[in-house]
Amino acid sequence: MARIVASVNVSHVPAIGAAIDLGKTQQPYWAPVFKGFDFSRKWIADLKPDVIILVYNDHGSAFSLEIIPTFALGCAAEFPPADEGWGPRPVPVVKGHPELASHIGQSVILDEFDLTIVNKMDVDHGLTVPLSLMFGQPREWPCRIIPLPVNVVQYPPPTGNRCFQLGKALRKAVESYHEDLRVVIFGTGGMSHQLQGPRAGLINRSFDSNFLDKLVTDPVALTRIPFLEYVREAGSEAIELVMWLIARGALDAKVREVYRFYHVPTSNTALGHIILENLPKSGGAARKARAGGAKSRAARAPKARAAGKRRAA
Ligand code: DHB
Ligand code: FE
Repeated sequence: MARIVASVNVSHVPAIGAAIDLGKTQQPYWAPVFKGFDFSRKWIADLKPDVIILVYNDHGSAFSLEIIPTFALGCAAEFPPADEGWGPRPVPVVKGHPELASHIGQSVILDEFDLTIVNKMDVDHGLTVPLSLMFGQPREWPCRIIPLPVNVVQYPPPTGNRCFQLGKALRKAVESYHEDLRVVIFGTGGMSHQLQGPRAGLINRSFDSNFLDKLVTDPVALTRIPFLEYVREAGSEAIELVMWLIARGALDAKVREVYRFYHVPTSNTALGHIILENLPKSGGAARKARAGGAKSRAARAPKARAAGKRRAA
């Protein structure tokens, strides 16, 4: 069966994409940002996921105020980079996984989460920047990617609890897929940010660090944060953080924090990044993994495992 083994949560600031595309990653402003992803790039290269479910929000590139799906599921074979005003980013076309996506759609919709099925869609910085941070500038993205856009642009966004429950339904869907696939789920956007108005540039470090801590230890507490609290405490676009709860809901109740990075400022926002892994299963599943099945992480990633939890900044 397919299995979600880890989550990657990361901000998707568009200026990061521009810094990569324009060769500025070693400039003094940007070098500390990209250094914060050295561990993550190695971690994901060792893990070699087959599929990423990438939870993000579209920023008026594929959808507009004419059509606003609360939750959508990218079922196409390919998703080209969107033109966000300066031409499409020079990044590979995203290759989807139509079979798994259709299976997820069926499972999740029959589980009473009515996702909008999307068979044609361009993908913007919300999706491409996290891929660039984790994989650099490859000719092709190294795995299949299923985009899952969430409305956090137009009020009302879904609640944190609804997002968390969707994560659980996604997990159930993945685990009922017949093929052995290693799946990683990305939750993107956040952290503190307010892009406009008199409070533009607002950063609330203690809100962010509490969110990161609780994401590991008590995500259910985060599911009770109301919309207005995100906006008041951490800025109008901090509501993007509800998407991190989809990724968290798809993991076990107890997880291992593998890595954390927090950096201010990035553009005029706080950049947050955390990697969580499900703990190795005891009993039959673990024995099977140890026996050298396709999913034996010990064989694939001895260094990342030995390194244990890492923190930067
Ligand atoms: C910016 C835009 C975003 O969508 C985001 O998530 C963070 C920052 C920006 O324009 O700086
Ligand atoms: Fe955004």
